[in-house]
Amino acid sequence: MDELRLTGDGSHTLYSPEYGQTYHSRFGAIEESRHVFLQGVRLEELLKRNETVTLLEIGFGTGLNFWLSARPFLTGNRRLNYRAVEARLLPGEIFSRLNHARLLGLDEPFGAFLRWRTDLDEKNPGTHSFRYNTLRMELFPGDALQADYAENSCHGVYLDAFSPDKNPELWSVDFLQRLYRALKPGGLLATYSSRRSVREALTACGFCVEKRPGPRGKREILSAYKP
Ligand SMILES: C[S@@+](CC[C@H](N)C(=O)[O-])C[C@H]1O[C@@H](n2cnc3c(N)ncnc32)[C@H](O)[C@@H]1O
Repeated sequence: MDELRLTGDGSHTLYSPEYGQTYHSRFGAIEESRHVFLQGVRLEELLKRNETVTLLEIGFGTGLNFWLSARPFLTGNRRLNYRAVEARLLPGEIFSRLNHARLLGLDEPFGAFLRWRTDLDEKNPGTHSFRYNTLRMELFPGDALQADYAENSCHGVYLDAFSPDKNPELWSVDFLQRLYRALKPGGLLATYSSRRSVREALTACGFCVEKRPGPRGKREILSAYKP
């Protein structure tokens, strides 16, 4: 069972005994997610466009990236289409203990999400869909390697698997190539890893890879652009 932990900015993360890793940086889960993922795909710029924004996340976990990304869409009429894959969907009981929604002032939509999670029929095969106002979240419950990724469909990809040594299947050239195809031209893939092997694998797929300064506790991270 994953354990709840407090990080440096007061937001929760989980520790997975199975992977021997926390889901986020111990220096600050919210701080890290904003810096690595939202800034990594330039969400602020995407918000200025007059179109539905489509994001894909590999490793939904606690849903922190989803809630942070969803927040600006909850005011106004811009639409977010969020696609996520998760092999081990957390039980409602764990979601309900996380403090992310409270810290982000999202109690109401999070309450709707918890009710959705509680009523979810996990025996029902296929993608689960959560809708709230202008948000649409499509969750594929299973191995990311088995999911379908529509080509040229996403403005941004959040690659938030566990680290390459613990979760190697999600950092392989074959899998990254599928994420490359899922992105629209001009789209960005954001990840917290800056390993040389990841950089090389992304480059081999055709991405233009850039190092950028990391959040607290991490010198560098990567952002990969699809020309
Ligand atoms: C670093 S944690 C996720 C952090 C998450 N984005 C969050 O904000 O909480 C990595 C996630 O990837 C999931 N995962 C690992 N291997 C997977 C696979 N092959 N397919 C789908 N999900 C996987 C784990 O269950 C875990 O939830």
